[in-house]
Amino acid sequence: MQEHDTERPGGAYRLGSRTVARIGYGAMALERFAEDRDAGVALLHRGRDLGVDHVDTADFYGDSTANDVIRRAFGTSDEVVVVSKVGAVRVDAPMPLALAQRPEQLRAQVHANLRGLGRDRIDVVNLRRADVGPGLIAEGEQLVDLDDQLAEMTAMRDEGLIAGIGLSAVSAGALERGLAAGIVCVQNAYSLVAREHEPLLDFCVRHGVAWVPYFPLGGAFPGLPKVVDEPVAARIAAELGVTTAQLGLAWLLGHAPDVLLIPGTSSVAHLEENVAVGTIRPTPEQTAELDAVWDRRDTAEGDTDEVARPRWP
Ligand SMILES: NC(=O)c1ccc[n+]([C@@H]2O[C@H](COP(=O)([O-])OP(=O)(O)OC[C@H]3O[C@@H](n4cnc5c(N)ncnc54)[C@H](OP(=O)(O)O)[C@@H]3O)[C@@H](O)[C@H]2O)c1
Repeated sequence: MQEHDTERPGGAYRLGSRTVARIGYGAMALERFAEDRDAGVALLHRGRDLGVDHVDTADFYGDSTANDVIRRAFGTSDEVVVVSKVGAVRVDAPMPLALAQRPEQLRAQVHANLRGLGRDRIDVVNLRRADVGPGLIAEGEQLVDLDDQLAEMTAMRDEGLIAGIGLSAVSAGALERGLAAGIVCVQNAYSLVAREHEPLLDFCVRHGVAWVPYFPLGGAFPGLPKVVDEPVAARIAAELGVTTAQLGLAWLLGHAPDVLLIPGTSSVAHLEENVAVGTIRPTPEQTAELDAVWDRRDTAEGDTDEVARPRWP
C-alpha cells in the first residue's frame, strides 16, 4: 500500500527507491528553451518550489537541450528524481527520431544521458520499446529480443549507472515477461480520451508498478485525440470552475492509485495549473460521466481508425 502525503502535489508515491509527488513534470517541452535556457531553468525551479520532484526526460529531447536545462537547474542535487529513457536517438532526417534498440545502443544512450545530466547515476531509465504506438514501431534489425535488452539494463543497474528500470511503449506480453527484472514504472500513451492500454494499467495496479502515462492530455501532435476537445470534460470542468486540461489530469489521478502525472508544458501558468489538480474532486456522478467518455468514443468510432487506436491482443 502506497503512503499518502498531502504535502506533496497529488500525494506521495514510492517510485523505485525514492518517494515522489504524484504530480511531476515531462521535460519534452524543454526543447523549446534551446535559445533561452535560463527561462527553462526558471520553469523547473518554479515547479520545484511548488513541490514537483519528479522530472521525465530523454537525451533526444532537443538534442540534449532538456538534459542540459535540468543539469543547469539542479546540478547533482537529489532534490528531484530524474527519469530518462533509452531506445531512440535524434537524427536529422527523415524524422527527428530513429529507433536504437540494440543492447550496445541502449548502453551508449545511458552514457549520453549521464553526460548531459552531469550525474553518475540516473534514478530510473525507461527502456523505450517500440511494441505499440503512437510513434515508431520496431521492425527489421530494431526488433530486438526483450530478454537481451533487459540483460543490458540490469547489468547497468548492477554497475550503479541506473537505480531503477522502467518500460515504455510496451505491449502487454512484453510487460508480463519483463516484470521479473524489477520494473518500477510503465510509460505508455494514455489519457481520458485514449484508453487502449487500460489492461496494462490494471496489470500495473495489481503489481504495484507506477503507471506514468505520456500524452496525459491526449498528445500535442496532430491527429491524436485531445482532452481539451472532449465536450463532456469541458462541461464538467466548467461546473467545477477548473480548466478542461486540469480536469483531464485530475481524472487520471483519481482513476488509479498507481498513476503518476508528467504533463509537459513550456508555460509557467500551465505548470501552476497542472500542479494544482490534486485538489480537484469531481463528484461520483461526474466521475462516472468521465469514465463513460471512453465507452462512448469507443462505440462511436468503432474500429475505423486502427492507426490512432491500436487494439490490444
Ligand atoms: N515514452 C515515450 O515514448 C514518450 C513520448 C512522448 C512524451 N513522453 C514524456 O511524456 C511527457 C508528457 O507528455 P505530454 O503529452 O505532456 O507531451 P508534451 O509534448 O510535453 O505536450 C503537452 C502539451 O499540452 C500542453 N499543456 C500542458 N499543460 C497544459 C494545460 N494546463 N492547459 C493546456 N495545455 C497544456 C502543452 O502546451 P504548453 O507548452 O503551451 O503548455 C503541450 O503542448 C513528455 O514531456 C515526455 O517527458 C514520453
